[in-house]
Order: sequence, then structure tokens, then C-alpha cells
Amino acid sequence: MVPEHVSIIMDGNGRWAVSKGLNRSAGHIEGVESVRCILREAAKSGVKYLSLYAFSEENWKRSEAEVSALMDLMMKSMIGEIELMCEEKVRFVVLGNRSRLSDELNGTIDACMEKTKDNKVITLVIFLSYSGKWDILQAARRIAADAVSDPHLASRLSMEDFDRYLVTADIPDPDLIIRTSGEQRISNYLLWQAAYSEFYFTDTLWPEFREEEWKKALDAYAKRDRRYGKTK
Ligand code: FPP
Repeated sequence: MVPEHVSIIMDGNGRWAVSKGLNRSAGHIEGVESVRCILREAAKSGVKYLSLYAFSEENWKRSEAEVSALMDLMMKSMIGEIELMCEEKVRFVVLGNRSRLSDELNGTIDACMEKTKDNKVITLVIFLSYSGKWDILQAARRIAADAVSDPHLASRLSMEDFDRYLVTADIPDPDLIIRTSGEQRISNYLLWQAAYSEFYFTDTLWPEFREEEWKKALDAYAKRDRRYGKTK
């Protein structure tokens, strides 16, 4: 079975760069090459949603130089890739706490999302300034605000209703979450949405995660038995 939604915690850019005697930013630049390659592979495999954890709320604590180099790289990558995304019919979506992004970056994101909104081959979701706890909290705050004018909301609220308050309301939950670089943790990613995701961990660093690694991950997924709490 091909997963509908594959999500990736792209980790190991810094270690890849340091191992080559380069600065950390060089790792992020090479990481963008992996993004290009995996987007192509995902579309070829028939995956409908590819989502990438590009920058967490916690990543703002990195040095100013690294944060600004990363933001710059993301903006340049979006501008550089927009025509190709249009040609390849990729719908581009950014989710996260966008109030922390610069006006310039937000403007570029809005333009890319608008230009690609009707594309149907694959949806590329970039989680930017995102964290799972932040997402659940912003949902809870909006529910509390709505409850002021709707006193029965709290008692009526279902799991599906809650889903609709998350920033991922329009995106199915990930079937497969891949984490590169040997780390085996969720790092405040899709905490609610990952309830029944399959996990795949690999020691490969993100800049080296290419076609062969993608195939291995999908093959491993195909052998999984997803029971969702039920017996066979
Ligand atoms: C983790 O490696 C990677 C990041 C925090 C940034 C990932 C971002 C990109 C690859 C750019 C993506 C661009 C677009 C347009 C999607 P790390 O720095 O934590 O590596 P380390 O754990 O080895 O230090």
C-alpha cells in the first residue's frame, strides 16, 4: 500500500556539514536538494501529501545567524521553485505560527500558496515555525473563543470537530512519519495528528536521504500491519 501522506522530520543537516568541514548553512543548502529529490519521488510513488518539518517553534532559539540564513534559504527556495511547482502541479502549503515570520517571507508564502492552490498532483506542506503543542493550544484558544457565543460547544465537541480547529484541518493525518539522522523522538511535531502514524527511523542524514532511502522507507511501510487498536 502506498501511504497517502508521508511526513518527514528532516534532521542531520548540521552534522552532515560539520562532517565535511563546512558550516551548518551548507548542510541546509544540501538539504534543499533532498527536498527537491524527495518531492519528485513522492509524486512518482503516488503519495498525495508530502509534509516536511522545516523549522520548529524551538528552532527560533538557534543563533541569529543560523535562523536568518535558514529563513533566507526558504524564501529563495520558494521563489526559485515556484515555476517548477506550477509545471509539476504541486500544491504548496505552509502551516505554523506565521505571526513570527517576516512580512517579506509571509508575502512570498501567500503568493506561492495562491499560485498553486488548484494543483492536484501532490500537496507539499512545509511546517514552518510549527510545534504540536502550539497547534493544540491555538485550537483550544479558538474553541474557547467560539464557546462564548455557543454555550453548548464544549459538551458537543467531538474529535472530528477538534481536528477542524488544528492548522492541519484540510490535511489528512500522516500515515508514515520518517525521521532521519538516527534520532528517535517526535520533537513536538504532529502530536495530535500522529496518533496512528507509522514511524520509520533511519541513520541517514537528511542531505543524503535520496531516492534509494525513500524507496526503503516506503517498502518498510508496505510491510506494516496497521490495526488502529483493533485485533486482526
Ligand atoms: C535539521 O537539521 C534541519 C533543519 C532545522 C532545517 C531544515 C530545513 C531545510 C532543509 C530547508 C528546507 C527548505 C524548504 C523550502 C522546505 P539540524 O540543523 O538540526 O541538523 P543537526 O541535528 O545535525 O544539527
